[in-house]
Amino acid sequence: MKTFAVVNQKGGCGKTTTSINLAAGLADLGKRVLLIDMDPQSHASLGLNIKAGELDLGLYDILLAVGEQDGPRLDDIVASVGKNLDLIPSSIILSAFEQKLAGAPGRETRLLEAINAMEGDYDYLLIDCPPSVGLLSFNALMAVDHVIIPIEPSFFSLHGLGKQIESIQLFTEKLNHPIEIHTLVTLFDRRTRLSREVLEEVHKHFGKHTFQTVIHNNIRLKEAASYGSPICEFDRHCIGFHDFQALAQEVLLLKTREVQEQPTEMLSPRPVRNGILFSFKAPDVRSLKLVGDFNNWTPDKNSELEKGEEGNWEKVMTLPPGKYHYKFIVDGEWREDPGNPNSIVNDFGGIDSVVEVKPVEFPELMQQDRSLSMEADQQEAS
Ligand SMILES: Nc1ncnc2c1ncn2[C@@H]1O[C@H](COP(=O)(O)OP(=O)(O)OP(=O)(O)O)[C@@H](O)[C@H]1O
Ligand SMILES: [Mg+2]
Repeated sequence: MKTFAVVNQKGGCGKTTTSINLAAGLADLGKRVLLIDMDPQSHASLGLNIKAGELDLGLYDILLAVGEQDGPRLDDIVASVGKNLDLIPSSIILSAFEQKLAGAPGRETRLLEAINAMEGDYDYLLIDCPPSVGLLSFNALMAVDHVIIPIEPSFFSLHGLGKQIESIQLFTEKLNHPIEIHTLVTLFDRRTRLSREVLEEVHKHFGKHTFQTVIHNNIRLKEAASYGSPICEFDRHCIGFHDFQALAQEVLLLKTREVQEQPTEMLSPRPVRNGILFSFKAPDVRSLKLVGDFNNWTPDKNSELEKGEEGNWEKVMTLPPGKYHYKFIVDGEWREDPGNPNSIVNDFGGIDSVVEVKPVEFPELMQQDRSLSMEADQQEAS
């Protein structure tokens, strides 16, 4: 499960709008998604038409009961809010959580433990955080591998952001829980100079940690929230829908940290003398196949990789120049290439790895050939 907390202590920068519509966007692409509303204001719950105050049991009760045998669990309060999309609603009582647990051991990992005890099976978890630094946000940080920081282009939007990121890093380092941080520009209005300047600054400071997608200021997003619907259900023709669809696709393409830290000699695929070498490190699997555009996605005998040293499976393919989509089949399960950062969302909402084979040119050899043939011509002529 890939896990994200949407965090910014600055109010009104688009955390809840991002949480709802990214969660719904991923669900729309066929992923099973759980959204947790960790904000006592309950805006994410309201934005999905769930009135948490009317429920007997809430997130607050579950977090307090963590560790108790036979205590309530997240499964008891999960609400289905769309196809592939579930919500853990919040309520105002959650604001008492910090005070109630002051000084209690393990208070930062309550949410993590509650999630671990869940039976529901999800591809993505998103947590909408309150606009404050406190125990609720810390619990969210402990439960995720990624943080998304929405930044709305205002005069103060970048003020204090560096300090906030530093404190997230310090907190996670202290508790030995590394987190990847991503920034997202929201409420963007191309016509204003401030928007363009903030976008430029964000790219300058956060580089590849910034989503390429920006979320434009779009009234339809506001309206969708007031109708209790995500944008993909409310209006699939507005720019807000397209922005969140693009963001969901970008999120699908994020690689896990292990992949990014893979040494370069492990990277797959790479050109070798007789073709393109595809490799996949998996010491404990029984069968590994390679399928793609080049073999009509057919997992037959020819698609099998050979198991080499240290559980590294390999196959060399001789391919004409071109761009190919492909996947591995690991003990029957279709997987993208963990060593290849180039991937694309396919028509089914899944991810294909992509390899481009460039035409091979031998300028020196060609030149040599040409001069040899000229010599032969001259000899023939004389
Ligand atoms: N891209 C957008 N276009 C238009 N309106 C937006 C957009 N993003 C957010 N809004 C509106 O701006 C307001 C604040 O957004 P939102 O509630 O998502 O921010 P937040 O960071 O969650 O706020 P808080 O800090 O209070 O939790 C809401 O009224 C929302 O509908
Ligand atoms: Mg909010």
